[in-house]
Amino acid sequence: MSQTLTNAIESQFRDKFRGSEGLAERAQQIFPNGVTHDGRFLKPFPPYIKSAKGSRKTDVDGNELVDFWMGHGSLILGHSYPAMVEAVQKQAALGTHFGACHELELKWGEWVQKLIPSAERLRFTNSGTEATLMALRVARIVSGKSKVIKFAGHFHGWHDLLAPAAEPPHDTGVYSTPGVTSGTDGDLVIVPPNDLEATSKAIDEHQPACVIVEGTGGRWGVVPMRGEFLRGLRELTAKKNVILIFDEVITGFRVHPGGAQGEFGIVPDMTTLAKILAGGLPGGCLAGRADLLEAIAFDNPHGKKMKHPGTYNANPLSAAAGCAVLEAVATGEPSRLANERARDLRRAFNDVFEKKDLNWVSYGDFSSVKIIPEYNGPRPESDDFIPYDNDFKKLDRSYDTKLLHAFRAASMIGGVDFFGWGAMVSACHTPEDIAVAAAAVSQAIDLLRADGFLT
Ligand SMILES: Cc1ncc(COP(=O)(O)O)c(C=O)c1O
Repeated sequence: MSQTLTNAIESQFRDKFRGSEGLAERAQQIFPNGVTHDGRFLKPFPPYIKSAKGSRKTDVDGNELVDFWMGHGSLILGHSYPAMVEAVQKQAALGTHFGACHELELKWGEWVQKLIPSAERLRFTNSGTEATLMALRVARIVSGKSKVIKFAGHFHGWHDLLAPAAEPPHDTGVYSTPGVTSGTDGDLVIVPPNDLEATSKAIDEHQPACVIVEGTGGRWGVVPMRGEFLRGLRELTAKKNVILIFDEVITGFRVHPGGAQGEFGIVPDMTTLAKILAGGLPGGCLAGRADLLEAIAFDNPHGKKMKHPGTYNANPLSAAAGCAVLEAVATGEPSRLANERARDLRRAFNDVFEKKDLNWVSYGDFSSVKIIPEYNGPRPESDDFIPYDNDFKKLDRSYDTKLLHAFRAASMIGGVDFFGWGAMVSACHTPEDIAVAAAAVSQAIDLLRADGFLT
């Protein structure tokens, strides 16, 4: 990208988010990069949020932002959903950790069984990362095999076993994750997404313990995966007797009350869940076939037990929040509304890009909205549109990080916090939020042009 010409974005951002700047300076002395999650790193500094309600969050200066992070996808009903707040407050007064079994964990588990087709049995964890780690251990115990097949670009959390290949570049086919040993790396087999033939060959060659897949494609659909491929994958893994794991940490309770498996009518062998599962509080779970989950039980038929401690497993606060939210999710209305609003947002973005004569494009499935900031291809003609005919090497690319920081900062000046190059839409986003988002993008493009980031 060309050099900054005017610095309009930086000066307007500093002016608007004045109160956050001092906090960000303090943070530099506490946290690497001053942040507690890589995704929160923003130049010149991130805004500090004080409260949130529905689709909006408010920062320390009183600026309101339409939020498209939505708790990293955990808040399909928006911030501070009243029934969730009430349930958590009530539970906090009764006790936050009994170090014992409690009835609410049963109710929470029964909601999962009711909604998720593959959930014959389950175990709660503290996060999605723990859930996918547990899935692999169980698959290895049951199958007696060690290799794992994953798809390029799919994100399953940050533990050593699955961290590699979650991001581009994919063109070299060589992935290395600093800090992960070559032995661990060597157990991972990476195949291109949406390629059944390559998956079949990889299964024959490597005889893996399992195949793990994100329900609608890597990183909530950068390279969309649709029903036809997923059904083919189910058939293939069943035929070759390989355990199929759906990672529905994002898609679970979102794209449909039953997740991607509910939407596409597929029953995987195991499923990992988190985010909406715990209603916006920390929590995850591994669910699946009773005979597989037996590997976690004492004296099980597999002859080996997967150890499963975890101080906060099924903690009462997450259970209370999860039950309150899953009860609403079960109606199907939150998924329907979020999907509809996301479609409106994609259309609004594409209208702006066309009006501004800019080579950006928006696409996505269900409640996910993606933006490609350098696009050379046909414009969308339907809501089904996938750029570049779903060629994953063209779709899953990295873009200029300076442009990303400038775009996010410029959008915040217009009152919107986008989730990187995209948005996670919830059931509480309104048509007005969509209009604010479209106006913010339009204004951001003007600022990016003024600052020399775009022509
Ligand atoms: C598909 C998927 N799997 C696993 C994870 C990891 O979950 P957590 O952040 O709760 O560890 C994520 C997080 O975004 C995810 O999107």
